[in-house]
Amino acid sequence: MKKLHQENWTSQLGVILAVAGSAIGLGNFLRFPGQAAIYGGCAFLIPYFIAFFLLGIPMVWAEWMLGRYSGIRGYHSMPGVYRCVTGKRRMAYIGSLCVTLPTIIATFYIFVEGWCLMYALRYLFGWMEQGSDVHFTKLFIESVGLEGNGVLFQHGLLNFNLLCMLFCLLFNYFLIYRGIVKGIEWFCMWALPALLVCSLIIVIRVLTLGNPTGIEGQSVMDGINYLWNPVQSGSIFWESLLNPETWLAAAGQVFFSLSLGFGAVCTYATYTRRDDDIIFSSLSAAAGNVVCETVIAAVMVIPAAYVFLGAAFLTPENLSSSFTIGFQVLPEVFNQMPMGRIFGFMFFFLLFLAAVTSSISILQPEIAFLEESLQIGRKSSVTITGLITALGAFFTAYFTKNMAALDTMDFWVCNVFVFIIAGIQIIIVGWGFGIDAGIAELEQGSKYRIPSIFRFIIKYVSPVYLLVVFVAWLYQKSPEQISKISQNTVVQLSLGFIVFITIFNFLITLQALTRWEKQESLDSNTANGEL
Ligand code: PHE
Repeated sequence: MKKLHQENWTSQLGVILAVAGSAIGLGNFLRFPGQAAIYGGCAFLIPYFIAFFLLGIPMVWAEWMLGRYSGIRGYHSMPGVYRCVTGKRRMAYIGSLCVTLPTIIATFYIFVEGWCLMYALRYLFGWMEQGSDVHFTKLFIESVGLEGNGVLFQHGLLNFNLLCMLFCLLFNYFLIYRGIVKGIEWFCMWALPALLVCSLIIVIRVLTLGNPTGIEGQSVMDGINYLWNPVQSGSIFWESLLNPETWLAAAGQVFFSLSLGFGAVCTYATYTRRDDDIIFSSLSAAAGNVVCETVIAAVMVIPAAYVFLGAAFLTPENLSSSFTIGFQVLPEVFNQMPMGRIFGFMFFFLLFLAAVTSSISILQPEIAFLEESLQIGRKSSVTITGLITALGAFFTAYFTKNMAALDTMDFWVCNVFVFIIAGIQIIIVGWGFGIDAGIAELEQGSKYRIPSIFRFIIKYVSPVYLLVVFVAWLYQKSPEQISKISQNTVVQLSLGFIVFITIFNFLITLQALTRWEKQESLDSNTANGEL
């Protein structure tokens, strides 16, 4: 197969930071602390780490292996990757789902990215008034338009939230347009260290808070114990650990946070070279992500909320969504913290940077897919991707009542389809491609060897674990979601949008298949002629 796009990462650090950038995002700083607080703090960490080793690491390796194997054979689109690895035409259609999923995520992810920018600017310009928890809840409800559909559009586009979202869309397109090296790698090379510095400053601030309210049992140490010490968490620990929902949530968190099953990491891996050490790169990026969420993000958010608001506040009722802790609880914390305005700005600015390094990775699968399938240049692929994602982002921003559009897309994409894709991916590596060939491919160019226990884990444990989690998840959550379909028009429209993107990508895959097959028969005719 003739190579179409020759771009490769310029350095190992570059690819590690780009993949870590994809992983480190809103999932780390908002979703993880929210979930940890809902599922009993320390009790959540046990299923989280088990899922990390039994699902996360195998899936990370699967994505890197599939990506590099296909990339060096000239494929950078997910349908191309699936067809190249399995040799089967129909697998290209499954691969196209790995383009659909991130494109759908982009539509709501960039909307939330806009909120982060909006809050950062509010702190920077001093527009974040002081007030009580009621005040911050009201502010959040108003600024993201929770009260009704279309409220953000009352003055056309002249709404702070919409303008921030528009800026984020354009900024993402700009970075993607500049390409893998000058756009993605360049941005991640400075954004990641910058967000790390901001996080460390906030962590130090939180760790030196002492006991600002003077209430007994509400010091920083108590907050840290709540997160890390099972004895301190008391009965909640066992209650949460024995609740199957905690295990499901932990597995979902590992997937979302490591960007696994969405085609993002795999697409990035297609730009590595044959002799790159992908075992080292993949593990560094994954480890960086885990440290960032279980240590930095968790210490930054949970003890801070604990110190000012107390354990009684960290309950599932108070933290109904992953956004509550970030956009409603933390502003209250910054409100009470000395120099809170500066720390508030830093927090939301680092959130914005983290979100951008993730959203560009979410857009890249569609870009690579369009370029490769339609043989079009960067300008056209960015324009088409831009139109689709802008359509989706405005759709999500319009249907904001109770976050129905966002929740529907999040549920179906991040909880249902991703498990299916992840399952297919791990089975392709463990069974289709063959575990020995897969491990040999991974070890190519690496100083490290994969411990042999992982052969067993990839082949048997991960698929079974995935199946159990998926079935349990469906059993618990799908009746509620399915009943929503018949009751809520916005849910129906959101599903319609998912179907629309799926069909669009199927049609383009058809086009790609025709082109690949034509090219291959031309190549083989030329080869025969030369003989
Ligand atoms: N991992 C990102 C986060 O934690 C989100 C993401 C999901 C990025 C899927 C790429 C693909 O925020």
